[in-house]
Amino acid sequence: MIITIDGPAGSGKSTAARKLAAKLGIAYLDTGAMYRAIALAALQAGIHLKDDAGIVRVARGAQINVDCGPTHTRVTLGEVDVSEAIRSMAVNQATPFVARIKEIREMLVEKQREIGRRLGSLVTEGRDQGSVVFPDADLKFFLDASIEKRAMRRYQELTADGEEASYELILDNLRERDGNDRKQWAPLLEPATAIHIDTTQMTIHEVVERLLEEVRKKHLVASPA
Ligand code: DC
Repeated sequence: MIITIDGPAGSGKSTAARKLAAKLGIAYLDTGAMYRAIALAALQAGIHLKDDAGIVRVARGAQINVDCGPTHTRVTLGEVDVSEAIRSMAVNQATPFVARIKEIREMLVEKQREIGRRLGSLVTEGRDQGSVVFPDADLKFFLDASIEKRAMRRYQELTADGEEASYELILDNLRERDGNDRKQWAPLLEPATAIHIDTTQMTIHEVVERLLEEVRKKHLVASPA
C-alpha cells in the first residue's frame, strides 16, 4: 500500500505523514530529507550552489541512506548520521538549489521508487510524490493551509523550542518558498485524483483522523489502531 502526501511548506504534511504511518504500522518516507542530504554533501564539499555539474558529481559519489521506520527517518551520509545536520539553516537555504536540478530529481525519483518497491508499503511525503513518483499510489492526499496559518505554525514550532523567531520573516520566507515550488523543474503539482484537505482550521489530530477515515473508506486496512 502506497500513500502519498504532498503540499506546500508548512501545510503539516510531515507531521501528518509520520503519525499516519505510525498508526498504520508502515514506513514513513520524508523525501525532503533526501534533497537536504545532497545539499549538505555539496556544502561539505565546498561546491558553489550555482555549480549544477558540481552538485550532480557530489550526489553521484555520496552514499546517502534513508532508514524509514514507522516513527522516524534516519539519514546517513557515508557512515555519518546527518539526521539533525540536514535541518540546519544553511541546509534549509541550500536545498532549493539542489532540488531544481533535473539530474538530481531523476536520481532521487528513482531512489524513492526503489524504496517503494523494496518496502511495498509506505506513507511518502514531499512535493511530487502523487504526481511524478508514485502516479499509481493507492491513496493520494494534498494538504494545504492559508499562508498566514502555515507561517504561524512554523513560528510556534520555533518559539516552543526556545528559538527566537519573527512571524513576519517566516511569512516572507514562505512566500519565497511557495514561489520556488512553482518554478522548480518538477513543481508542486496537485494530482487530479488527490484528496484535497485544507488544514487551516484543523488540529494535527483532526488531520490524522481525516486521513485514517479515507484509508478505512478505501478498505486498505481492516481497522487501523
Ligand atoms: O519538505 P522539506 O522542507 O524537507 O523540503 C526541503 C526542500 O526540498 C524544499 O526546497 C523542497 C524540496 N523538495 C522537493 O523539491 N521535492 C520533494 N519531493 C521533497 C522536497
